[in-house]
Amino acid sequence: MKKILTSLFVLATFSLAKNIVYSDEIISLYLHQNDTKVVGRLLPTNAFEILEEQNAKVLVKINGYLNPKSPSVIYFNNSQRIIVAAFSKNIKLNFSQIKKGKNGKWDKVSIKIWADKKDFFKDNKKMLSRAKELFSNNCGICHALHSEKEFSANAWPAVFKSMVNRTGIDKKDQWLIIEYLQKNAKDFKIK
Ligand code: HEC
Repeated sequence: MKKILTSLFVLATFSLAKNIVYSDEIISLYLHQNDTKVVGRLLPTNAFEILEEQNAKVLVKINGYLNPKSPSVIYFNNSQRIIVAAFSKNIKLNFSQIKKGKNGKWDKVSIKIWADKKDFFKDNKKMLSRAKELFSNNCGICHALHSEKEFSANAWPAVFKSMVNRTGIDKKDQWLIIEYLQKNAKDFKIK
């Protein structure tokens, strides 16, 4: 009897477990399942939940923070410009507010939206090591490698973009490396 109960319990927890995944490349986002018009982009290394799969699309839930000054961007934490997903400006988006930000901190929100189905990953460790390797192999050729900790999370995108054209870094890996640098910046905050 105890065995049966335990297996039922395991089964229940298993089916309740959220399907949290990560992508190492940019994912296109759509308002409806059959849309071809891209309304946003989900950036690499960020967690999202898969709610449903339909043909080549997945319905995903993205959590993050909304800065009232840029309401078409979901950020990773409540104060730094580390982008999780960015949307077209003239699109009506249905964010659900999870928690109101206090003292000028941004509101915690989530959004359900359709995305292209790809080979997603169960964690982002390997892609972050690949990003570190790409950064180390490409950014220390002409001068000593600048440390991840040398710049703030907000400063890294511009610094990186001003230099990336001098490297052979593939266009599809650029946001992977930017996210890696921001998440290892000197002032990075997890929340
Ligand atoms: C082809 C040579 C070359 C490569 C490759 C290169 N850099 Fe530079 N970097 C330079 C030169 C030259 C300067 C001096 C300033 C300038 O020319 O803009 C510089 C300056 C810098 C600075 C100092 C400027 C500042 O804003 O303080 C940083 C930081 C930097 N590079 C980061 C990087 C990163 C990150 C990469 C990899 C994406 C990279 N570099 C790849 C040549 C290179």
